[in-house]
Amino acid sequence: MSVGTVRCAAPHLASPIACGQRLASPAGRDACRTAPNGSFLLRGAQRKRLRADRPPAVERAPVAWSDGRVQDETGQPANAPWWRSAVIYQIYPRSFADSDGDGVGDLPGIRSRLPYLRELGVDAVWISPFYPSPMADAGYDVSDYRDIEPIFGTLADADAMLADAHELGIRVIIDLVPNHTSDEHEWFRAALAAAPGSPERARYIFRDGRGEHGEIPPNDWISNFGGPAWTRVTESNGSDRSGHDASTPRSARGGRPAPDQRGQWYLHLFDPKQPDLDWTNPEVVAEFESILRFWLDRGIDGFRIDVAHGLAKDPEMPDLEGNWATGGPAVEGHPHWDRDEVHDVYRGWRRVTDSYDGDRVFVGEVWVQKPEQLARYLRSDELHTAFNFTYLLASWDAKSLHNAIDDSIDALSAVGAPATWVLSNHDVVRHVTRYGGGAVGVRRARAAALLTLALPGGAYVYQGEELGLAEVTDLPPEVRQDPAFARYDPGLVRADGGGGLRDGCRVPIPWSGDAPPFGFGPGSGQPWLPQPADWAALTVERQQADPVSMLALYQAALELRRDRPELGDGTMAWIDTDGDVLAFRRDPGFVCVVNVGGEPVAAPDAVRDGALLLSSDPLLPDGRLPGTTSAWYAV
Ligand code: GLC
Repeated sequence: MSVGTVRCAAPHLASPIACGQRLASPAGRDACRTAPNGSFLLRGAQRKRLRADRPPAVERAPVAWSDGRVQDETGQPANAPWWRSAVIYQIYPRSFADSDGDGVGDLPGIRSRLPYLRELGVDAVWISPFYPSPMADAGYDVSDYRDIEPIFGTLADADAMLADAHELGIRVIIDLVPNHTSDEHEWFRAALAAAPGSPERARYIFRDGRGEHGEIPPNDWISNFGGPAWTRVTESNGSDRSGHDASTPRSARGGRPAPDQRGQWYLHLFDPKQPDLDWTNPEVVAEFESILRFWLDRGIDGFRIDVAHGLAKDPEMPDLEGNWATGGPAVEGHPHWDRDEVHDVYRGWRRVTDSYDGDRVFVGEVWVQKPEQLARYLRSDELHTAFNFTYLLASWDAKSLHNAIDDSIDALSAVGAPATWVLSNHDVVRHVTRYGGGAVGVRRARAAALLTLALPGGAYVYQGEELGLAEVTDLPPEVRQDPAFARYDPGLVRADGGGGLRDGCRVPIPWSGDAPPFGFGPGSGQPWLPQPADWAALTVERQQADPVSMLALYQAALELRRDRPELGDGTMAWIDTDGDVLAFRRDPGFVCVVNVGGEPVAAPDAVRDGALLLSSDPLLPDGRLPGTTSAWYAV
C-alpha cells in the first residue's frame, strides 16, 4: 500500500457506515476503489476533502497545561510541544538492522532503515542504549556514557544517524541509565581499588556486611534478576594477599580469599555487573547533568530514563522482610522503589533541558502500581512524560481496558501531563502472545493498535509490533543472553516466554527474503538470536506488498493520525455502550469503536451517519463490527 492511501477495510458499501464515501458524498463518490483483495481504499485527497466537511469545533473553556500553554478551539493544546502527541518507535539496536554482517544490529543499520520509519509514519525513535558496555544486560550496563559501543559504531555514526533522522523529520530520543553503571565503568573500578569510606566508594552503595565476619549481606534486598541484591568484594585495604589490585577479577588472582580479606558489599538492584549509584552524592548528580548536556549539545531530542523510579534508596536500608514485592510495579512506601527523594533529581534535570531550545523531552520508565504514583513524576517541573504500564498490563477485556484508560487519564490530567500508551517493549512478552497468541493474538493486536493510536496523548510502537511479531518462546537455552536467564529459577519460566526471560521479544527484525537472516544483515550470516523460519511470511518486504497486512494497518492509522486534528493530544469522551464494546469520541468529529468481545455488535448510534475511516478487520456487510475488531469513524 502506498503512502497517501488509506485503506477502508469495509468489504462493500451495503451499509451507511461501511465506507467513508457516505460523508464525502458526492465529492468522495469516486474515492473508494476495490483493491485486488476486495478491501476498499480511500485516497488521501478525498480524505482531506472529508476533513473540510467536518462540523465546527465545539466551544469549551480553555485548559491551562502544566507548561503554560492553553487549549485551542479544536481541543488540542495550542502550540503544543511535539511530544504531547508523538508516536515514538522503540529501536532495540542489537536487533533492528545490521550493516556489517556481524549478526548484531548497529547505528549504520538504523540509519539505513530511517526511510522505512518515515514511510511508516512515526514521529520519533527511542533507541535503547548504544554506549560502550560489556553487555551483561544488553547495554543497560554502561561503561562510558559519552561514547558508542564499537559493535554499534562510533560517535560519528551517531551524529550521522541523528542528522539523517532530523532531515527526515524524525526526532531521536536516547536511553539514559542513571540507576547503575557497569562494573567496568571507571568509577566502579576506582571504587574497588579504593578503601572503604573513600570518595571513590561513596559514588556507589557500599556497606559492611552483618554477622561476625561481615559474611551476611547488609540487608535482605533481592535483585530484580533473582538472587541477593548485594555482592561482596574482596579487599584488604584495596588489595589481597597476592598483591593483586582488588579490581582484578578473582579468576585472574586465583584461590579464594581468606575470610578476613572479604570486605564490603555493594548494592545492585539488577545484575552484579550493574552496581547502583548513590544519588545522595553531589558528584553523581553533577556527572549526570554533564552527561545530559553532552548529548543535548549533539542535538538529541530527549532521553528515556531507565528505572527512573529506582534512584533513591531508604538511607536506613531496612530489610524487606517479605513485606514488599521486589519485581513488578512498585507499591507506595517501598524502601528502594518510587521514593520521594528521586523527584529532586528530575527537578534538576528539567532545569537542564529547559535551558535548551526545541522542546527536548524526558520519558520515564517508571514501574509503579498506581497512575497517581506515576503522575508525581510528571509535575510541571519534573519529567515530561512516562510510559503507561497500567495500560500495558491491562488484559484484553473491556472492563480492564476501560479502567486502565480512565485511571491513567484522570491521574495524568491532574498534573497537566499527556498520557502515553504502550503495548510492548524489550522487557515484556510481545502483546500478540500476551493477548492469546496465534490468529486470536494477531486479531486482538490489530484491534489494540487502533485503540491505542486513537487515545489522547502519545503512543509507543516497539520494533516488530507493526509486523505483528509474536514472542519467540522456543529459543534454546544456549542462545539466550538475558542475565535473568542465568539467575532465574527455571520453574518460573512461563509457556508464553515470560517469567523474566526477555530474549523472546528481542529476536532480530525480518526485513526481506525467504530465509533467516531475512535481510537483517548482509549475506547469510545469522543474527545473534535465531529467527523463526515462519517469519518469512512476516517480513517488511512481504507486508509492504499486502494491503491488509499489520504493517499496512499501522501505516494507514499513523497517516490518519497525522491528518486528523482530533488525534494525538487532547480530550476524549466515552460513548455509552453495552458489554464488550468500548467507544469514545474525540472532538470535533472522530469516533473509535472497539469490539473487545468475540461476537458481532452493531456500531453505536453515534456513528450511524458517520463514515468509516479504517477498521482493523473488515466489517460485516450490514456494518456491524465482527468480534475483536476496532473501527475509526469520521462523524
Ligand atoms: C530497565 C530496562 C531493562 C534493564 C533494566 C536494568 O528496566 O528496560 O532492559 O534490564 O532496566 O537496567
